[in-house]
Amino acid sequence: MRLENKIAVVTGGARGIGQAVSELFAQEGATVIIMDLLPQGQAVAEGINASGGKAEYHSISVTDKAAVENLFNQINAKYSRIDILINNAGITRDRTLEKMSEEEWDAVIEVNLKGVFICTQAVAPYMKENKYGRIVSAASNVGLRGNFGQTNYAATKAGVIAMAKTWTVELGKHGITANAIAPGFTMTDMVKEIPEEHFEAIKAGIPLRTVAQPIDIAYGYLYLASDEARFVSGICLTIDGGTSR
Ligand SMILES: NC(=O)c1ccc[n+]([C@@H]2O[C@H](COP(=O)([O-])OP(=O)(O)OC[C@H]3O[C@@H](n4cnc5c(N)ncnc54)[C@H](O)[C@@H]3O)[C@@H](O)[C@H]2O)c1
Repeated sequence: MRLENKIAVVTGGARGIGQAVSELFAQEGATVIIMDLLPQGQAVAEGINASGGKAEYHSISVTDKAAVENLFNQINAKYSRIDILINNAGITRDRTLEKMSEEEWDAVIEVNLKGVFICTQAVAPYMKENKYGRIVSAASNVGLRGNFGQTNYAATKAGVIAMAKTWTVELGKHGITANAIAPGFTMTDMVKEIPEEHFEAIKAGIPLRTVAQPIDIAYGYLYLASDEARFVSGICLTIDGGTSR
């Protein structure tokens, strides 16, 4: 098992890519702490525990600094460490530049960018203490390429890549790696609103002519969170069927 005895926090682990990451990490031996606002995170944790894994669910927003700090303090008190942080929680509020409201801009910045900052700042002291850490954050190929109607989202995803590079130079000497993953179009609730005709056009634009399933992205997280990636830091791993090249 590739994550045996590791303690892993997965934000946004109640569904979609975060759920796939939580289940895969648990199968690989990690104790998974799911942090999400959706109550279905409880069912995901129970499913993992029922199949022989170890998981906990906590209803906490990544934007709530005090609650995040309190949870990490509790986790550290219980398990004596936090090895892995997966900053996966994210939202969209799509609108073209001229129509985007300040509220839509702020909401996406708050979760996708500030939430990643809050969680990483809160976990860093525990990782430093143990001279070990794996931080992997959800970017998007939109952060590399831009996308129609996603000024706010694209800005946050480019920011996540830049933060991973910054933490690489700040935290590397403490045995901590920081990387980002840039998924392409992945079949989750986040994209379910997209009309069928757009969906066909999206597929036609992907060299592999198919979209990702959450597990395709989860395998990337597993690699970057594992000991096999001990010499990998500051990268953005693109998993998008060849779209960004
Ligand atoms: N689906 C895609 O095509 C795609 C592509 C590129 C990047 N991504 C990124 O991958 C990540 C996961 O995406 P997904 O498609 O699984 O989305 P999703 O909407 O299915 O899941 C996101 C999860 O994050 C949780 N969340 C949202 N705000 C939160 C908060 N403030 N605190 C805690 N949890 C919160 C949600 O409740 C949800 O469970 C996101 O960061 C997303 O931007 C997704």
